[in-house]
Amino acid sequence: MRVVLLGPPGVGKGTLAGYLKETYHLVHISTGDMLREETKKDSPLGREIKSLMTQGALISDELVTKLVKQKVEHGLDLTQGFMFDGFPRTVNQAQDLDVILESVKAPIEVVLNLDADLDVLLKRLTGRRVCRKCGALYHVDYKVPACEGICDLCGGELYQRADDNAKTIQSRMQVYHESTSPIIAYYAKQGKLKKIDANLEAADVRRAVAAILK
Ligand code: AP5
Repeated sequence: MRVVLLGPPGVGKGTLAGYLKETYHLVHISTGDMLREETKKDSPLGREIKSLMTQGALISDELVTKLVKQKVEHGLDLTQGFMFDGFPRTVNQAQDLDVILESVKAPIEVVLNLDADLDVLLKRLTGRRVCRKCGALYHVDYKVPACEGICDLCGGELYQRADDNAKTIQSRMQVYHESTSPIIAYYAKQGKLKKIDANLEAADVRRAVAAILK
């Protein structure tokens, strides 16, 4: 199965990716995670990416597409299927992805377009906590760890992402509406788009997705 997870910041793409990885053994390709890895390198590029992410701005199509192309062509075994999370984010990236996947004869089959109300997204983002060690996702109200500040799965420390503050969230939402939402029409035209009501609880979102993928 070859899937794109599309939707605004905080809608639950990463959360759903965890389920799809466990249930369908899909490889998870998250450009946000790849870029956060780059920021850990003390390099001019790493610092530039960090600055853009902190502002809630997009990294250039050229750089992100290059990172994805490397993964698809050399880095991963994609024979069991895969899902893109946070990519594509512009129509240019969507066109580039089609070309990359065409070259490995593995086109996208379905695009899960998750949507939720703005107040729901804001609550999810401001309450999100992430494990520093394994990347597991938590929430101060909706997914509380057994021991505060500690990951249930690996014992790692939970932290709040630098871009999960009110000012950056506002820019991220604006960028999503201006640059990313046109992708919805791009995939609708290809007949691959499936709409998911992501206002629902995580278990109901999973059920809706499972019904589409079966
Ligand atoms: P990225 O890391 O991709 O962030 P994002 O798209 O803004 O999405 P998030 O990770 O914030 O949210 P999510 O939808 O995964 O929600 P989650 O499952 O965590 O990108 C970050 C930055 O990197 C960008 O701003 C940009 O600068 C750069 N970048 C990345 N890709 C790029 C690209 N292709 N081109 C250019 N730049 C790029 O859920 C959120 C919270 O809600 C969690 O706490 C979770 O537990 C909770 N939750 C989830 N679902 C539910 C539910 N149904 N009910 C209750 N709680 C829920």
